[in-house]
Amino acid sequence: MSNPRLRVAVLASGRGSNLQALIAARDAGALPVDFVLVGSDKAHAGALQLAADAAIPSFTLSPKGFANRLDYDLELFRQLDASGADVLVLAGFMRIIDGEALKPWVGRMINIHPSLLPKYRGLHTHRRALEAGDTEHGASVHFVTAELDGGPVIAQARIDIRPGDDEHQLAQRLLGYEHQLLPAVLRLMAAHRLTLAPPDRVELDGRALSAPLQLRNDDLVD
Ligand code: GAR
Repeated sequence: MSNPRLRVAVLASGRGSNLQALIAARDAGALPVDFVLVGSDKAHAGALQLAADAAIPSFTLSPKGFANRLDYDLELFRQLDASGADVLVLAGFMRIIDGEALKPWVGRMINIHPSLLPKYRGLHTHRRALEAGDTEHGASVHFVTAELDGGPVIAQARIDIRPGDDEHQLAQRLLGYEHQLLPAVLRLMAAHRLTLAPPDRVELDGRALSAPLQLRNDDLVD
């Protein structure tokens, strides 16, 4: 009998706390997936150590030595394809991915981004929210498309910005919610409840979402 568990690959450039949250959820029995590969563009990414500790195969692919982004991304996806992954999670992967290279993965690739998209695509999201005087901030998980941080949003976690918050405090507080949000979305994918109807309709149990799901008490609600 074939293994019914979703096969998941993860890309991460940094410390990997979101990867850690996914592994912890799996270990707790709350996320029925198999992690088949962790990849990074940075040889010293903490995520690679976390993968080793969890006995997940991993690889580093440095952009050095590639003539251009497309060549790099094609090699990246070659390795991901070879892993047999069904789904790819970008968990702090800090590279832009070529739109052509990622096409075969549209609908099977999600990213976590530390803002309430469509606000603050790109970098320095916490600083920008503070500078704008926002009273609310958050994180989004979205399907990845060719548009940077622009793919259809699946789910969000919202937090209040407190008086006196600085960039670091805000980032740290939000991170705790990211660690619930990403496993919660992946859980829906593992249950085959979530689909992307191109170009931009997110469906839960076959019904289009009119707005992103919201994280409440560890769970996602309509
Ligand atoms: C997370 O805050 C994630 O949302 C962000 O990078 C951090 C990675 O932390 N991702 C992006 O900014 C993507 N545009 P981690 O390595 O501890 O998971």
